[in-house]
Amino acid sequence: MHITHLTTMILAASVVLVGCRSTEDSIMESKSGFTVTDAAGLDIGPVRMITLRNLNGMEVELMELGATVTKVVVPDRNGDPTDVVLGFDTVEEYPEKSQYFGCTVGRVGNRIAYGIFSLDGKAYELAANNGENHLHGGERGFDKCRWSSDPVMTSDGPGVRFTLRSPDGDEGYPGSLDAEVTYVLTESNELVVEMGAVTDAATPVNLVHHTYWNLGGHDSGSILDETLTIAADRYTPIDAGFIPTGELAPVEGTALDFRAPKTIGRDIGAFPENGEDPGGFDHNFCLEGEAGTMREVVRLSDPDTGIVMTIETDQPGLQFYTGNFLNGMTGKGGAVYDKFGGLCLETQTYPDSINRMGEDGWPDVVLRPGEVYRHRMIHRFTTD
Ligand code: GLA
Repeated sequence: MHITHLTTMILAASVVLVGCRSTEDSIMESKSGFTVTDAAGLDIGPVRMITLRNLNGMEVELMELGATVTKVVVPDRNGDPTDVVLGFDTVEEYPEKSQYFGCTVGRVGNRIAYGIFSLDGKAYELAANNGENHLHGGERGFDKCRWSSDPVMTSDGPGVRFTLRSPDGDEGYPGSLDAEVTYVLTESNELVVEMGAVTDAATPVNLVHHTYWNLGGHDSGSILDETLTIAADRYTPIDAGFIPTGELAPVEGTALDFRAPKTIGRDIGAFPENGEDPGGFDHNFCLEGEAGTMREVVRLSDPDTGIVMTIETDQPGLQFYTGNFLNGMTGKGGAVYDKFGGLCLETQTYPDSINRMGEDGWPDVVLRPGEVYRHRMIHRFTTD
């Protein structure tokens, strides 16, 4: 099945023009002067930026480079607009300074041990771009590619569909993959992220959305006073290179127990800085409930703005990362992003799943011809 068929299926029921609103009010486009070169060094043109607006004053800005979220403005408890995602003022700064800010990571998000795996009896070797391991799709992952964009009006609200063809052998992965990500901003203050892919040969796939959130505002400093709940009773313990040991261990009695709401700062000291490891949370949680079924797995709130974000997903895992590698880079409007200045809640399969195939409790990360990869997230914003 071609990927456009997937989209047609997903959107068929919902694509109608919203009666009383014109598309121009809710979807705005502009072109940045920044030009992306493709893997062969060819100029593939300027990057398009798209802004979505709903009737409640919520605004989401996206760009083609990396199918990236560059801005999410939500009203705080006093109704004041607050931009809750880290980012940069210019497109150029993303490839220069970004640590995967807001992007769509692929072909396989998170780590693959030593960048090697075998599939159907054949061995593959990928870039070791994170110490001796492979991270976030390699040297030129999907975050560094220019995706094509198509604005869409749905009955739920305005959106954009991004598509990307990753050729056979791209970053060492087998098979030609057609990937897509559709973002929709609903009139109920939700940012829906729907990822999909089809392939012409068996390949691992794990598309990951990598926004850095700070519900106090992107420029408000530390996220350690935010309160988090994660519906997970197990996690995947890791070695010094952040590779899972294979165990699925209980969170009970550890700093990783977020089953009841607690501030992020409360137990973060359990993971202190240690040599190359900056410390902080950077762990994969095994989410409760059935993979493939949408369920609410995260609740995050900020004490100052009162902004609350919940996440529903159909994925089995969640990487909770507290921006440990943020290094004081200058972001939007001159904001300084220091360690713990933002956090990522990356729904996913478990890291290194491709090397754990068939092991008890480990998700299947292989996509085969004729199958459709699907990954859905609903970020819902309210205040308390
Ligand atoms: C993921 C990883 C982190 C880090 C960030 C990007 O969340 O788990 O270790 O690599 O991406 O800096």
